This record gives sequence, structure tokens and C-alpha cells, in this order.
Amino acid sequence: MPTILGIESTCDETAASVVVDGWDVRSNVVATQVELHAKYRGVVPEIASRAHIENILPVVREALSSADVAQGDIDAVAVAHRPGLIGSLLVGVTAAKTLAWALGKPLIGVDHVHAHLYSVVLETNRTPPVPAVGLVVSGGHTALYRVGSWLDVELIGSTIDDAVGEAYDKVAAILGLGYPGGPILDRLAAKGDPRAVKFPRTLLGRDSLDFSFSGLKTAVLYHVRGVPGRGEDVKEVTPVLTEEHVADVAASFQAACVDVIVEKLRRAIAQSDASSVIVGGGVSANSGLREALNHLTVPAHVPPMRYCTDNAAMSAGLAHVYFGEGKFSGLDLDAVTHSQFRD
Ligand code: KG4
Ligand code: ZN
Repeated sequence: MPTILGIESTCDETAASVVVDGWDVRSNVVATQVELHAKYRGVVPEIASRAHIENILPVVREALSSADVAQGDIDAVAVAHRPGLIGSLLVGVTAAKTLAWALGKPLIGVDHVHAHLYSVVLETNRTPPVPAVGLVVSGGHTALYRVGSWLDVELIGSTIDDAVGEAYDKVAAILGLGYPGGPILDRLAAKGDPRAVKFPRTLLGRDSLDFSFSGLKTAVLYHVRGVPGRGEDVKEVTPVLTEEHVADVAASFQAACVDVIVEKLRRAIAQSDASSVIVGGGVSANSGLREALNHLTVPAHVPPMRYCTDNAAMSAGLAHVYFGEGKFSGLDLDAVTHSQFRD
């Protein structure tokens, strides 16, 4: 029964977790920095790294004590070492290396985005039927994978500009709403008419599995601030809109995002001959997306919310698979800003 301590610090959450056997989550501690970044309407990398340094040791201690596990009971230390913000990643990677070295236990580096997909196994101990299409939708990532097994995860599509969560956050900022924008727009969308504004659905090539959300974001900007004339800049601020208009924009924007994601999933399912879909990342909380996932030709698996957003349990869980294969990392493990298949 391998007991693995996981550490996560890729973006703006400092997290640690103890997971036994790859699915039994004994603790899942997450220190969020949302309040620190809210006034900037996005993550400020320097602020994030500083907060990670302050939080990392208390969070690791809390994960061990709430799991009732002593340091010596740990069989391996896992860390999400890619992709992410370099200053943030370095804090978790350094903490994980130091612990592994001090305890004389193996170190296991995992890709944070692969770990997002593995979240569906936590607590359920069930891997959906493979081959599966994996979809990770968050503030930092929008990517599709063909999952043959947890050791065979192949990138088949990704965004060429903004991530979908980033588009939500930017549209919320354009409308003068709070941060993070996803949950706010999701709530407003429920009150609006998704057909009120015809926003573009950017599908790229006929068979393309890549995404692009920057055109949609600009379409929202022009809709609410007006299309600038030749040589003019777009207006600096959004004029006061009625509540109904904001709800209609939110609903129409959400419909465009969901339509694009669903179309890409359909293509990926057909191209990969997939038996299931696995979804992870903060945007998988979206009510419109969750509803649409019920109407695919294969079943979609979405983890509970606490494992959709950034956490360390997913990394500790995936590391269990690597542990079984003897796939360990050296103490020279690097923090890497990009995902595994971008090399
Ligand atoms: O996975 P996550 O916690 O962090 C990253 O790895 O980025 O995802 C955060 C993102 C934010 O952009 C947030 O606006 C978005 O997930 N999000 C949502 C919803 N809840 C969170 N987007 C749409 N609808 C939601 N209900
Ligand atoms: Zn993430």
C-alpha cells in the first residue's frame, strides 16, 4: 500500500496531499491565493512565488498531520514539476527534492496536466474505459489527449492562443465583473439568452483538434465597447449595461465556448475511436459544459469539484502509477514551464 506525499505549486495554489494506493485520499490541503491576485484580475507571478514560499511548509505539515501520517511512513514524494509559472514551480520542486533527500525516499516528477486527467481515479479507484479522450480546461490549459493508459498520454490538440478559463477571466474583466470570472459568468449565463448575441465559433481546420479563443474574446470586447473605426483605439471602459444585457452576453459567450469544446470532443472521439471522455481542470465546473457532456456518444467522466481545480492529490495519485513502474526522478529534476509534449 504505497503512501505518497504530493506537492503542487504550479500556479496560484499551494497544495499538499497524502494518497494511498493511487486513489485513497487521506488528506487534500489547498492554500489558495485568489484574494492576493483578485485586484489585478489575474495571477501576478512574483506575488504567487512569494506566497508559495510562505505557504509550502505549513501546507505540507497540515497534509501529513491531517492524514495522520508520519514523515517516515511516506514511500515517495511526488511533485508537479511542469507546466506552470517558473518561480512558482521552483518552490514546490525544491521542497519535494529536499524532503525526498532528507527522508531517503524516491522523488517522482509528474506533469500537472496529466495529473488533472488522473483526478477521475481519486476516491473512485476506477479508470474509465480506454482509449479515452482527455480534455483539460482551466485558466492555464485547454488541451485534448488520447489516453491509451496512464503511461500512454498523447497530446492531440491544444489552444493556439488563450485558454478557455483565461477567456472567461478576460471577458469578466471586460464586463467589469470580479475575478476569477468563470464562476461569475456561469451564474449570470443561467439568467441570459444564449441566442441573444451571435458570437463566433472558431473551429480552425475541418479536422483540427486545436482551439482558439482570442477571436471570441475580441468579439465580446467589440460588442460591448463598439467596433473601433479606422485608426481608432477601442474604448477604454465598458459603458454601463443593463443587468439583462450582461446576462445575455454571458449566456451567448458561454454557448460559444461550450459549442466549440463539444465539437472538438466529437472530432477527437471519432479520430481516436474512444470509449470514454475524461475531463479535468477548473472550467469543468461549468454548468453549461457539464450539461453538454451528457449528450456525447460516449460517457464523460468529471471529477468532483475539489479535484477539478488545482490540488496535489491528483499528482500523488498519478505518481502511484509511476511508483509501480519504478519510474523515479533524479534529484536534478527541473522545473519546466511547458508541458511534456511541447519539447
Ligand atoms: O484548474 P484551475 O483551478 O487553475 C488553473 O490551472 O488554471 O482553473 C481556474 C480557471 C479560472 O480561469 C476560472 O475562471 C475557471 O477555471 N472556472 C470556470 C468555472 N469555475 C472556474 N470557468 C467557467 N465556469 C465555471 N463554473
Ligand atoms: Zn491546473
